Amino acid sequence: MLSEIQQLHAVVEREIAEVINEEQLEQFRLRHLIKKGSLQGFIERLRNVPKEDKPLIGKELNALRLLAENFYRERNEYFEQRRKSKTERIDVTLPGRRSSIGSIHPIQRTMDDCISIFEKMGFAVAEGPDIETDYYNFGALNFAPDHPARDMQDTFFIRSDNADDIVLRTHTSSVQIRVMTSQKPPIRSIMPGRVYRNETVSARSLAEFHQLEGLYIDRHVTFADLKGTIITFAKEMYGKNSKFRFRPSYFPFTEPSAEVDISCYLCNGNGCRICKHSGWLEICGCGMVHPNVLKNCKIDPEEFSGYAFGFGIERVTLLRTGIDDIRLLYENDVRLLQQFR
Ligand code: PHE
Repeated sequence: MLSEIQQLHAVVEREIAEVINEEQLEQFRLRHLIKKGSLQGFIERLRNVPKEDKPLIGKELNALRLLAENFYRERNEYFEQRRKSKTERIDVTLPGRRSSIGSIHPIQRTMDDCISIFEKMGFAVAEGPDIETDYYNFGALNFAPDHPARDMQDTFFIRSDNADDIVLRTHTSSVQIRVMTSQKPPIRSIMPGRVYRNETVSARSLAEFHQLEGLYIDRHVTFADLKGTIITFAKEMYGKNSKFRFRPSYFPFTEPSAEVDISCYLCNGNGCRICKHSGWLEICGCGMVHPNVLKNCKIDPEEFSGYAFGFGIERVTLLRTGIDDIRLLYENDVRLLQQFR
């Protein structure tokens, strides 16, 4: 019986090498693997084999059975797969499915770009809290308690137990005070951040927006330094050909004070709806730090002078993108955001 099994083994091996289609595989199964097949015949005969021969013959038979069964199973799977892939054709010319990833919001991008321009000029970044005391937001910045200049910035008050002297900061100038009271000159810092004003939301203004303010305090700082810094920044941001002008203005914490205008990007200075037919758009407030502010921060105005400037990040974003309604920046409409990847 052993030699018969070995003969069958040789036959099976040969057949395995020859099976190339489903029809032949089916014939293989019918010959060997069904109840009336060759293997089952041997298994039945095994019962009558003398005890001492059983282990050896059993082992041979088992090896043969595994060989035939495994071959059948694997081949069958292979043919099935092949049949499927013929009916489910893959079109390799179809474009792939892109997974969509987010992008940096235009406001954050403007903020990042502004920061990097000032960092190249040697400014460090300083931050302060959004919720401020009246002192940091107004008092130390030379706003007298009843000074009408407080009305320039409509304030959100946060009620505390005994007073309404806690406010949402109306500008990042509050951080000027925090920097000047915690560092010694020379100071060269920018202060980016969120600010809040109790204003009606419109195409031009929001109740919550972003500013970036700059402060430079040292010996012999002049208005010429201020002009140079702002124009260097503005040319980097808006391009070499943009034109600027400084207009006298008023802020309690700077003297003299100025506002900076850029030639209107839309009409090139000829006058249009956006620039209210003036040809200019305001981009920035600035001035030389008021001596009273330096004194409030224990810096001697006889020894040190400095400049400060501040501008709105949303405004810069509108100017550089040509978006004409500030509210669009906060609607989170992907059709808008996708244009600024
Ligand atoms: N804090 C002013 C504002 O919010 C801007 C400014 C900053 C003006 C620094 C002068 C100097 O309008």
